[in-house]
Amino acid sequence: MKKIITGKNIVKTFGEGSEKTNALNGVNVEIAKGEFVAVMGASGSGKSTLLFALSGMDNISDGSVKFDDIELSELSENKLADIRRTKMGFVFQQPTMLKNLNLLDNIILPTLQDDKKNINEIIQRAKSLMKKTGISGLEKRDTTQVSGGQLQRAGICRALMNSPEILFADEPTGALNSKSAEEIMDLLVNINKDGTAILLVTHDAKVAAKADRILFTKDGVIVSDLLLYKSKGKDMDARIEKVVTQMADVGI
Ligand SMILES: Nc1ncnc2c1ncn2[C@@H]1O[C@H](COP(=O)(O)OP(=O)(O)O)[C@@H](O)[C@H]1O
Ligand SMILES: [Mg+2]
Repeated sequence: MKKIITGKNIVKTFGEGSEKTNALNGVNVEIAKGEFVAVMGASGSGKSTLLFALSGMDNISDGSVKFDDIELSELSENKLADIRRTKMGFVFQQPTMLKNLNLLDNIILPTLQDDKKNINEIIQRAKSLMKKTGISGLEKRDTTQVSGGQLQRAGICRALMNSPEILFADEPTGALNSKSAEEIMDLLVNINKDGTAILLVTHDAKVAAKADRILFTKDGVIVSDLLLYKSKGKDMDARIEKVVTQMADVGI
């Protein structure tokens, strides 16, 4: 399988002297094109730092991160921003939306700076994504007039505007009730089926069980790499059980 991301010996240190924290302590990881990978681990184990390192959102202290064979640390700020904007999508626990803009405008806003695209194309793309994610009809709504699940769907639409090769999601279901969380996960599974790779941080076994593969972090390293689709096929209960067992083994 062709790799989209290759991380070698990634080290990330915050602070200095007695304040020094080694958030990542030599992580080696490869993610294939189109793969759906979850990251699990105790709070503070380095999940978010890993996501930030692999996406070039934050610089690393040592080691290497290649995206499509391009070494991210060697890129200029502009070139790196370009790659993040056109080839990567980002979803967080709470989508940051501007309160004075409606849902549709929030979704298209980051794409408007791309002068190669015309506004009608951009709006059509946004509307088709809103349909796909089940929020058609909410275009004119204020961001305060929709549910948390609907807002997260809008956040996902915004992240998919440029048809990214990979979607990075840091606890995207963390603020949702279990029904909305499951709906968002099913949506992510469908997005992945269409070919977008996904790297998703979660501490919910039910959420992680939908991924193809789970990386477990502990004290800034990957301590386990579980291939779910190989071991348990499509039976969700069996997959969840496998995840829960592995969580206990790793000590989460
Ligand atoms: N900006 C930062 N400054 C200082 N320490 C940080 C910063 N971000 C993360 N850390 C530390 O790095 C470690 C890993 O954090 P993080 O990746 O956020 O963990 P997780 O997402 O698994 O909860 C923690 O000890 C955390 O306190
Ligand atoms: Mg985190």
